[in-house]
Amino acid sequence: MDKYAVWGNPIAQSKSPQIHRVFAQQTQQNLDYVAILGDEQHFEQQLLAFFAEGAKGCNITAPFKERAFQLADQHSERCLLAQACNTLKKLPDGTLYADNTDGAGLVSDLQRLGWLQPHQSILILGAGGATKGVLLPLLQAQQRITVANRTLSKATELAEKFRPYGEIQVCTLDVIPVQKFDLIINATSLGLQGKTVAIDPAIWQQAGAVYDMQYSKGADTPFIALAKQQGAQHYSDGFGMLVGQAAHAFYLWRGVMPDVVPLLDEL
Ligand code: ATR
Repeated sequence: MDKYAVWGNPIAQSKSPQIHRVFAQQTQQNLDYVAILGDEQHFEQQLLAFFAEGAKGCNITAPFKERAFQLADQHSERCLLAQACNTLKKLPDGTLYADNTDGAGLVSDLQRLGWLQPHQSILILGAGGATKGVLLPLLQAQQRITVANRTLSKATELAEKFRPYGEIQVCTLDVIPVQKFDLIINATSLGLQGKTVAIDPAIWQQAGAVYDMQYSKGADTPFIALAKQQGAQHYSDGFGMLVGQAAHAFYLWRGVMPDVVPLLDEL
């Protein structure tokens, strides 16, 4: 049976094994997918041993995405731009191919929600790894992007890198232009501490839809709770993005695209 896994630390919370088992069943693919706790010190040796023992591919989650990127032999364009890898595939010649399916997962989920028309204005809050992973697919979907970040230099650096692919502006969180954004996406890590960024209430009033790249089981994420408080009518957390990135990884490995809708209904 072909072997796959998700590597992270911590990893017990990962939904990926459940998601990929459902995909395998649905598409009648014979594979085994487990969660593995990576060792902070010996991650590279562990991962190479996993592939040497015959594994076909894996997902990579925090804190190993940049290290997996460094370890791989070849990279997709979106992975090169993100400088981080969430999916590895062993190629027939034994080398490791790195991809980043996070952005494709977000785009698929926005399409599923009916929130992605060409030439929309999107406000992305944050300019860290999460933002880097999704900018290329959003720009390729012809979105006009404003990245607002606490540290302006990080946003400026991203804009310089991604400007060849589309329209991207940057600002700090306190001077976001007051205009209608069709979509506001939270890509900061603040939700992990139970917090959210503060933005001008006038921006909330004009917002189309609100998406949090984080997700939370059973309760609203802090960002979705704030959006509701501010009167948002259309909002979603990032669970669909998680399932979407998994579907794109599954496609890379197995050449068949699973249907995410039955899984989202079930979970
Ligand atoms: P990730 O991989 O989750 O994106 P990251 O690369 O550390 O994590 O990025 C975290 C993002 O959340 C950054 O945009 C960060 O802003 P800075 O670039 O200014 O650090 C943002 N963030 C974290 N804590 C924040 C806070 N207290 N206020 C505003 N933004 C914050």
